[in-house]
Amino acid sequence: MHVPFCKHLCNYCDFYKRKLDSSQNQFEDFHQFLSASVKRHEDLMKAHNFEWGVLDTVYLGGGTPSLWGEKGASFFQKILEPIGVSKDAEFTMEIDPGTWSPTMLDAWKKIGLNRISIGTQTLDPDFLKIMDRVHSLDDSLHFLEVLQKENWNYSLDFLLGIPFSREKKRDIKKELDLLLKYSPKHISLYILNARSKYPHIQDMPDDEFIRDEYLFVSDYLKKHGFHHYEVSNFALPGFEARHNQKYWRAESVAALGPTGTGYFQLNKNEALRYKWKVSEAEVEVEHLSDKELSLEQTYLSLRTSEGWIPPKGSECLMKSWTQQGYAEAQNERVKLTSLGFLMLDSLMDDLFRWEAQRK
Ligand SMILES: C[S@@+](CC[C@H](N)C(=O)[O-])C[C@H]1O[C@@H](n2cnc3c(N)ncnc32)[C@H](O)[C@@H]1O
Ligand code: SF4
Repeated sequence: MHVPFCKHLCNYCDFYKRKLDSSQNQFEDFHQFLSASVKRHEDLMKAHNFEWGVLDTVYLGGGTPSLWGEKGASFFQKILEPIGVSKDAEFTMEIDPGTWSPTMLDAWKKIGLNRISIGTQTLDPDFLKIMDRVHSLDDSLHFLEVLQKENWNYSLDFLLGIPFSREKKRDIKKELDLLLKYSPKHISLYILNARSKYPHIQDMPDDEFIRDEYLFVSDYLKKHGFHHYEVSNFALPGFEARHNQKYWRAESVAALGPTGTGYFQLNKNEALRYKWKVSEAEVEVEHLSDKELSLEQTYLSLRTSEGWIPPKGSECLMKSWTQQGYAEAQNERVKLTSLGFLMLDSLMDDLFRWEAQRK
């Protein structure tokens, strides 16, 4: 579920969102949009002989879903009721450290919320400002304290490759040490993706700096017991995000909310992806052919530590990947190393070239 509202629009953010304006009834319009979307979704499922299964993961992202507040919890419960959610479902919400309240958390907990993803980004006050965040370091630390005390399962978002990191000597180890004091079980590590109009486009660190930063964080977290189980994700054993694993394993995932993207695996060789439009409760549908599916599954498998089963004839290419430290062979699978995760796009290019030569 994509909830597209934010208190402040951070200048680096890639996601679809609108500024929350208390003088407007944006959430009422959103509720109407969702009600109409649920109907449209039922039609889409019927047209493809698809039915709701009992949901075993629920994920609210955004935007800032925590801004939906207590009203959001009762509205969302009405949406979930006819669908059905498993008793031990993983139910996650993204929360900006400056945008939550105990009553809002309670209301969502009552309807099943049991995991929180926190938009920490950095634990350095100067870099928080550079990143155009409106929450303070104290907001993050206070939120972490509350979550730790109340024994919540939470994940932190952490950004790398941020402007002025080299010039201002960002002390990533100090930030990680502070973060680890709060015993997170899961960390998402994103490399800042800067658009050409990003105000700090001239102040971005170079690729070599970002590579060193990424490999340092990966090593450091591994030393502290985390498993680098996907390009951008680390978890203590047993705390891997179940919801995201569904995307990476190409399992069916339903979506609602503007720009929300869902996926139906129709049969072994056929899938459908749909994306909600932002201005009407309508979807854009894309059918994935056998070939597109196979390519996508290769890419998704290589993203995770489960790895990929390479086809016969690719032994030479796989050997070159392992020799360069990009991959490790384990039984019949190839698993990328942290360096390999960083190089994923160019490894995919290697695969395309190899496939083209084979024909
Ligand atoms: C959609 S945001 C939702 C979280 C919440 N609104 C917040 O900011 O605290 C999810 C995460 O995406 C990441 N993100 C947003 N824009 C990005 C960009 N341009 N490059 C890399 N990561 C980005 C941020 O780390 C953010 O926490
Ligand atoms: S609060 Fe989160 S979703 Fe909203 S603009 Fe900032 S990073 Fe993007």
